[in-house]
Amino acid sequence: MENITLRNINKYFGQDISRVHVLKDLSFSADPGEMVLILGPSGSGKSTFLTIAGGLQTPDSGSVFIGNEDLTKLSNKKKEELRLNKIGFILQAYNLVPYLTVKQQFDLVDRVKKTANMPREEFNQVIQKLDIGPILNKYPDTLSGGQKQRAAIARSLYANPDIILADEPTASLDAKRVKEVGGLLQDLAHQYQKTIIVVTHDIRLNDFADKIYHLDDGLLHLA
Ligand SMILES: Nc1ncnc2c1ncn2[C@@H]1O[C@H](COP(=O)(O)OP(=O)(O)OP(=O)(O)O)[C@@H](O)[C@H]1O
Ligand SMILES: [Mg+2]
Repeated sequence: MENITLRNINKYFGQDISRVHVLKDLSFSADPGEMVLILGPSGSGKSTFLTIAGGLQTPDSGSVFIGNEDLTKLSNKKKEELRLNKIGFILQAYNLVPYLTVKQQFDLVDRVKKTANMPREEFNQVIQKLDIGPILNKYPDTLSGGQKQRAAIARSLYANPDIILADEPTASLDAKRVKEVGGLLQDLAHQYQKTIIVVTHDIRLNDFADKIYHLDDGLLHLA
């Protein structure tokens, strides 16, 4: 199982007077077995932080380590390979494939990543906990926001990554579902030694976190 470390990350957007310093020499790490919550208001840089942590965006300076590998020094091909095998994203836009049913979205994972996906019995429990059964044969455009969110969470977990990076995974969910998703992520950290990082403004997840940080003015503070 891999840990994740960000060292002295700086990220800017824009030019000249419209230039904004979104992440300010930010350092962070999370270990296997930990569920970490990063809270921050809209525009504070949560998605920027998470996409840099997973190598979907590059920082202007600083490094990101997945275990011993420096993501910022890898070729695109190596980076993709590492992402596919080690990192699971649950993104703000659910990224479901529109012409595939929910079940087919999971089958697609098997085609893209042929090995080390979640064992069937374990995935059946995830399906049950997230109440995906009734929507397995439905297409994304027939699902509610919460159903899409749950399908996207299940798909990401199915690939069985060491590290799970989740961006507002509970934004569309009601209180009961938030508890289920929070409990599920916490179980994956505690029982299966996953490293789980959730960026959110949903304080309903606080109870499930081992550590809570605030992202404020480009800096992280332990709550
Ligand atoms: N590609 C981009 N180009 C220019 N500015 C950007 C870009 N991406 C993000 N920003 C700016 O960086 C800041 C942080 O954005 P980010 O999306 O990381 O915030 P967030 O905390 O995820 O917000 P939300 O809660 O609304 O999702 C904002 O000021 C945003 O306008
Ligand atoms: Mg965001």
